[in-house]
Amino acid sequence: MPQDTLTITDNRTGQAYTLPIENGTVRAMDLRKIRTGPEDFGLMTYDPAFMNTASCRSAITFIDGDRGILRYRGYPIEVLAEHSTFLEVAYLILFGELPTAAQLKDWVQEVTHHTMLHETTKKFMEGFRYNAHPMVMLVSTVAALSNVYPDSKNIQDPASRLLQIKRLIGKMPSIAAMSYRHNVGFPYVYPDNDLTYTENFMNMLWKMVEPKYVANPVIARALDILFILHADHEQNCSTNAMRAVGSSHTDPYLATAAAAAALSGPLHGGANEEVLRMLDEIGSKDNVPAYIKKIKEGHGKLMGFGHRVYKNYDPRAKIIKWAADRVFEITGRNIKIEIALELERIALEDDYFVSRKLYPNVDFYSGIMYQAMGFKPEMFTVLFAIPRAAGWLAQWQEMLTDPEQKIARPRQVWIGHETRPFVPIEQRSPVSATR
Ligand code: SDX
Repeated sequence: MPQDTLTITDNRTGQAYTLPIENGTVRAMDLRKIRTGPEDFGLMTYDPAFMNTASCRSAITFIDGDRGILRYRGYPIEVLAEHSTFLEVAYLILFGELPTAAQLKDWVQEVTHHTMLHETTKKFMEGFRYNAHPMVMLVSTVAALSNVYPDSKNIQDPASRLLQIKRLIGKMPSIAAMSYRHNVGFPYVYPDNDLTYTENFMNMLWKMVEPKYVANPVIARALDILFILHADHEQNCSTNAMRAVGSSHTDPYLATAAAAAALSGPLHGGANEEVLRMLDEIGSKDNVPAYIKKIKEGHGKLMGFGHRVYKNYDPRAKIIKWAADRVFEITGRNIKIEIALELERIALEDDYFVSRKLYPNVDFYSGIMYQAMGFKPEMFTVLFAIPRAAGWLAQWQEMLTDPEQKIARPRQVWIGHETRPFVPIEQRSPVSATR
């Protein structure tokens, strides 16, 4: 019997089946041969929320949740955060190798060339209510780029895909900054292509009447590190959305808008905004024990804690803590960090969290750092979406060029009614439809 196989006996028929094991998986389609008779559809797997299902084969990001390991294309996140810039990491994630100096120079120039938004896009954004949530503006505006660049429909053309990728990576900070300026009622600031990617983002956010914006280099570097940390994270909820929507062969702008919409949820990228609300609700270190007691009684979740994959400390959280201290040296210590550190200290000693392997994740400290930089909580998930666009686009391209992939269309387990007779309206009794 070949070693890498699984032998299953179907006790309904006594039939034995031997299935190949590849990369620690069995193919779900191999289960379809397990049937009780010619009429039987065959076995499927049932896996709500894909807790134990690999949807693709990928070479982009590797995570080992038990050991707290995160690598982009084989490079540990710690090394990239220390030695690289975000655009360099975006190149690595998208093209698979670290760029040479010449390649990086060209890449930076090409992305920088695409930082401007079409004036019609700016007018589209001006149509939002003054207090529109910046994340809603970002999702909508990214989708609207589909109209500005109809050539993006040529998804099978590598040159068209690359052009859209450069456009979107270049424009994410511009859309994000314009969403912020709209939200605070300030005039838009156009890109300054003399500046680096992150400095230009800060310019579009915070330039007022000075002739030339000069970014604080410590803040700029801290933001660039945060962009590196958030660039990709294998098959997370928003990447799953990017792949699923992209699998119908829609254009990358509409697929990215769907991914950003998924990211905005409080269980995913929206958690960093919720962490600040939670810390505000706690109010002081002294109130932490009572708050933890409430969580343990089942009233809500500790936002910024827990992870589907990491059952150890999220390696990104450690780096963010380090970067936050550098920012606090410039901005002054955000008092909320004291509450967060006390929350972490108590939670990591409490069996409720330890037994569930709930550790701080990437969102736990990022919000505190963003707030110290001067960002409002409504901007936190936008700051997550900017760099994650590189990951989403890399995953989208990997999906499109994977010969095994096709339109994503899961099956279901039917638990509804069997066929039943139509009831004329006059004979119907008021029943409470199950919601
Ligand atoms: C991101 O997937 C990614 O890679 C995402 C991300 C990325 O880079 O793309 O890393 C970014 O989204 C980070 C996660 C941000 N979200 C939060 O911080 C929100 C709070 N965390 C939880 O909602 C939760 O931990 C999730 C959503 C992150 C993970 O949820 P799972 O894997 O579905 O786990 P679960 O809900 O099944 O929880 C298992 C148990 C449950 O208790 P029991 O039913 O067994 O009694 O742990 C409990 C949960 O109630 N639990 C928590 C908790 N998270 C899980 N209890 C208190 N506080 C929490 N934060």
